[in-house]
Amino acid sequence: MKGFTPFFSVILVALLASEHSATKLNVPRLRLSYKDLLSTNRSSIFSGHHGQLSLTAVFLDEYHDRLFLGGKDVLYSLTLGPVSTESKEIYWPPLPGNREDCVQRGKEPQTECANFVRLLQPYNRTHLLACGTGAFQPMCAFVYVGHRGEHVFTMDPTNVENGRGKVPHDPSLPFASTFSGGELYTGLTADFLGRDSVIFRSMGGRSTMRTETDQKLLHDPKFIAAHLIPDNDDRDNDKVYFFFTEKAMEAGDREGAIHTRVGRVCANDVGGQRVLVNKWSTFIKARLVCSVPGPHGIDTHFNQLEDVFLLRTKDERNPDVYAIFSTISNVFQGFAVCVYRMADIREAFNGPFAHKESPDYQWGAYEGRVPYPRPGV
Ligand SMILES: *[C@@H]1O[C@H](CO)[C@@H](O)[C@H](O)[C@H]1NC(C)=O
Ligand SMILES: *[C@@H]1O[C@H](CO)[C@@H](O)[C@H](O)[C@H]1NC(C)=O
Repeated sequence: MKGFTPFFSVILVALLASEHSATKLNVPRLRLSYKDLLSTNRSSIFSGHHGQLSLTAVFLDEYHDRLFLGGKDVLYSLTLGPVSTESKEIYWPPLPGNREDCVQRGKEPQTECANFVRLLQPYNRTHLLACGTGAFQPMCAFVYVGHRGEHVFTMDPTNVENGRGKVPHDPSLPFASTFSGGELYTGLTADFLGRDSVIFRSMGGRSTMRTETDQKLLHDPKFIAAHLIPDNDDRDNDKVYFFFTEKAMEAGDREGAIHTRVGRVCANDVGGQRVLVNKWSTFIKARLVCSVPGPHGIDTHFNQLEDVFLLRTKDERNPDVYAIFSTISNVFQGFAVCVYRMADIREAFNGPFAHKESPDYQWGAYEGRVPYPRPGV
């Protein structure tokens, strides 16, 4: 990377105030009960081919009009026709020997030592990329789904690839991914013990990229979502955003405090030449605040991110970001939806950097000279 700056790990903490978070009209515009749904005669029930369906991945493919599901040792394809639903199944167990290895290493045969499918992403017009935990030995394969209008669903089980860095080993650990330009971006723990929290880029022609192991970058993160969002028409400015929670460093000594973050990397980041080789040189993050003003000026904070939905608009640079939060307090249990404009998130990244003089100091705005090129671009 040209013009590498040693300030890569400067942490940006900016409050993303959301006008929308005020509780104005929190009544749903549309409410559908299960009974109502069934009575439209446009719903059908799928409970798997074996009477039970424990799903670990879902992908709605609007191009193929199909719903792809991933579970324990299984993949399903459902057609989404208006008349009837047709389903196909692929049995996809761990590679020979891996189930036994997993049990020998002390993992649970039923809940851990199977191939739990975690990733289903469209790869090209005819193939899906599927990855599963493979009994603690992650693996990936291409699934042939056919052209639009035909219902085929096959996989060559001998043609599987190592899925390390693409899905976690442990089916219970959080994970987020997005696939773009032939490259897979993931936020996950990438080792057997589930300790190596990392943002990865793999596949495609370029060398694999990851975050440095440094708790200032990622502190016990739980990844919820990842999305590529362009800045403008110049593809070189594309950024990949990660939504996650992590242990809050700026919360003083408060044990167990967590904050929600939005972090990002540049899609064209190729790492450093002498330092940060194959490591992100553009990673920065900001806090995502969702709070409701209360009496006596005390806000109720919803710190735990549960899910993120990107409502794409005509302007692909400016989707609305809908996020569901919960509280982590024992006193008050509640949920909230906060909406963020992409422009506000970008503005936070372009704003002042957070700075701490030494471990004993409070966080404050960095007022020194910001290096050029600016960290994170
Ligand atoms: C749904 O199907 C049932 C039984 O065939 C029928 O009685 C009912 O009117 C249908 N409902 C709608 C909304 O079409
Ligand atoms: C899609 O990718 C698969 C796996 O690499 C490949 O075999 C296939 O030819 C590709 N199809 C198209 C239409 O590019």
